[in-house]
Amino acid sequence: MTDSQLLRGAVLTFDADPGEAPTPDADSLRYWEDGAVWVEGGRIRAVDDFSALAPHVPEEVEIVDYRGKLIMPGFIDSHVHYSQLDIIASFGRELLDWLNDYTFPAECRFAERAHAIDVAERFLDEMLRGGTTTAQVFCTSHPDSVDSIFSAAQQRRLRLLAGKVLMDRHAPEALTDSATGGVRDSERLIADWHGKDRLAYSLTPRFALTSSREQLDAVGGVLRNDQSLYLQSHLSENRGELAWVAELFPECRDYLAVYERYGLVGPRSTYAHGIHLSEDERARLADAGANIAFSPTSNLFLGSGLFDRLATRDAGVVTSLASDVGAGTGLCGLTTLQGAYQVGALQGQPLTAWQGFYRLTLGNAKALHLDHRIGRIQAGHEADVVVLDFAATPLLARRTQMAETLGERLFALMMLGDDRCVYATWADGRLVHQRDADACREAPQECTSMHS
Ligand code: GUN
Ligand code: FE
Repeated sequence: MTDSQLLRGAVLTFDADPGEAPTPDADSLRYWEDGAVWVEGGRIRAVDDFSALAPHVPEEVEIVDYRGKLIMPGFIDSHVHYSQLDIIASFGRELLDWLNDYTFPAECRFAERAHAIDVAERFLDEMLRGGTTTAQVFCTSHPDSVDSIFSAAQQRRLRLLAGKVLMDRHAPEALTDSATGGVRDSERLIADWHGKDRLAYSLTPRFALTSSREQLDAVGGVLRNDQSLYLQSHLSENRGELAWVAELFPECRDYLAVYERYGLVGPRSTYAHGIHLSEDERARLADAGANIAFSPTSNLFLGSGLFDRLATRDAGVVTSLASDVGAGTGLCGLTTLQGAYQVGALQGQPLTAWQGFYRLTLGNAKALHLDHRIGRIQAGHEADVVVLDFAATPLLARRTQMAETLGERLFALMMLGDDRCVYATWADGRLVHQRDADACREAPQECTSMHS
């Protein structure tokens, strides 16, 4: 058994932004109807038509038969809270009440290491079941919560960004750190995890409301000393939040100015939401190269508002797509795309499947400065792929059989699909999720076929 496989099926990968039109821009993507992805030692060795590639592949390389299915780069989630897995779908609150009533109590449980380890494992299982192979993850304020998810991701050889939540005010005492203590803990975690295997550290001040000026200033200091670190936070999500930020930081002319003042807005910063931004804030985000994580299912669930994707893009701001579970209602990228379409439709800016799948893959990889490693199926890239099943449900099978074009089939998949459509997920060249795993153990020949 070599560490090499040839995955055979339809293959779709983006090379550039396909634009917003129903027909994708020329040269923005590559598609092989009967394609093959040659995976070796965790990397993609080659991609081409099956008939062109197969003769170059040694006999002993296993052929995994995904004919009839679609192979794409693994999905990327630019903003998600693993600690909120167990409060997903908690009823009837807007942001600030939702945090107090559900989120903070759930995060308190992470004081117990065994709980953190258990949820980290379940979260990664769910993420892979949804076809997501890389995420930027909020942990809790407990350093152990960070060790737990990094260690679980390392064992599974996943590419992951994560960080300890920093918050030294306006949260239960059991969850608050101190301005200096929280940053000291972050520095220990950076030393232990940043740049190890496929892991990277993202400094994580929760949002302006839960950090003192001293804490924000200390975070800015760490960031200035190491340009390779990421930063993740929240910005301009909810009207009540905005009013309170204005009260707490009267010296700042708007919400973004709070983060700017402490040096927290740069090309490696991801701010979730950005729903209620002014033109001026958008222009400043664009200048800084910071990334806004559009989290549609979360915005719809909490009633936070409708993100203006096109205005944000037209202002030159980098945008990414995120689940933001547990305010978001699903970890599967397809669920996120449904929300993004609906938020867009309500504003006369419906999302095409081309744009949606681009964002989930190469678009998010670019937003996180990881597009030289992930987000595309091309030689040399890390072998993180998802295998999607157009026949996962009877209705989807019927709808996609009737579709006349690939664009139409992809759109039906995006609107009707969920984790049932994720037939298999590969990370670092290894099969890490197989939908019909039990059936495959009993009848492996139906799941893969070998060279004869
Ligand atoms: N703002 C501050 N914390 C959170 C959080 O946990 N979820 C969301 N959606 N917004 C936040
Ligand atoms: Fe969030």
